[in-house]
Amino acid sequence: MKMKFEKKLLEEAKKAGSLKKTAHTGQVKWESPSNIAIVKYWGKKPVQVPTNASLSITLKEARTITSMKYDIGRSIDGPKAELIFEGIVVEAFAKRINAYLESITPFLPWLKGARFSITSENTFPHSSGIASSASSMSALAMCLCEIDSRINGTELDDTTLVKASFLARLGSGSASRSIYPGMAAWGRTAAWKGSSDEYAIPVGEIHTSFQDAKDSILIIESGKKEVSSSLGHSLMDTNPFASTRFKQAESNMQSLRPMIEKGDWNGFIDLMENEALTLHAMMMTSQPGYILMQPNTVEAIKHIREFRKKKGVPVGFTLDAGANVHVIYPASAEDSVGPFLTEALAPLCEQGTIIHDGMGEGPQPSL
Ligand code: PMV
Repeated sequence: MKMKFEKKLLEEAKKAGSLKKTAHTGQVKWESPSNIAIVKYWGKKPVQVPTNASLSITLKEARTITSMKYDIGRSIDGPKAELIFEGIVVEAFAKRINAYLESITPFLPWLKGARFSITSENTFPHSSGIASSASSMSALAMCLCEIDSRINGTELDDTTLVKASFLARLGSGSASRSIYPGMAAWGRTAAWKGSSDEYAIPVGEIHTSFQDAKDSILIIESGKKEVSSSLGHSLMDTNPFASTRFKQAESNMQSLRPMIEKGDWNGFIDLMENEALTLHAMMMTSQPGYILMQPNTVEAIKHIREFRKKKGVPVGFTLDAGANVHVIYPASAEDSVGPFLTEALAPLCEQGTIIHDGMGEGPQPSL
């Protein structure tokens, strides 16, 4: 069964498809950030429908910059894209992008006649363990939406962002959230009116103490992920604790909203850490089970909890599906967390690497 927004886009595409066709050439360029989930998306149904709602902080420094030269309307065997990633032709990425473009052609019918020359680069090292699918797919979706607006003679407005989030989601679920500044929620939840499984929505009301929140990423282990997120999501199909987990995520979404609105950092940290440990518990209790933490991940977690208890500083951790640790704290705690990062946590990191990031403004045009 078609979902509501999907149906609307397909109807619009049908109408646009019957209009007089003209050729279009040009270039668009967007920078888009990665994000870090506080309530985790882990488990999905076809096609890219989350089994629970999630919420993330949009980052600032970890971005993908994507430029797309387009030539549309002169062929009918599209979409066809050439891709240069950080100066190199990477066949595997090009294949993935072409399959993605093909899959979204029903929503953007002009793609049938499209040739692209794409260049893309990340502001963070490829081996850092920061998920690049959220930043890269959201940057690509913004590029496509700008081309779409140019073709249809429409403005880039809030409706465009909904469409961009929808298209980004079809590339990578978490990418749907990177479209918005500050914080974004994706997936239907009673906590936010207007929330949807089809696209993310911006989290409107964020207490001043959460604005400009910091995320210092401890690089415990760089390199390739042991478990791809698609494999991870699929493990939830048979995890015996899955349904309890999905209920817990919804309950966490509902508890989180007043914390964000009122500036309750203590509640936020408890909930965030519980979500991170649950994600890893799900990996451990899947079949086969995976242990994605390294000894230094556990060591860092212990240090963070001890430091918080001893000093009363609001600082907590979250984890992605990997060994690296995201240390989250308000900007007001920077003076005390800074030396703690350098003295206690940097020695646990690969070559002492910590990437300093924080809450950002979402995608920006960069031509
Ligand atoms: O967007 P995906 O399919 O790469 O999944 C992301 C999964 C987590 O990063 C572990 C959690 C999340 O909500 O971002």
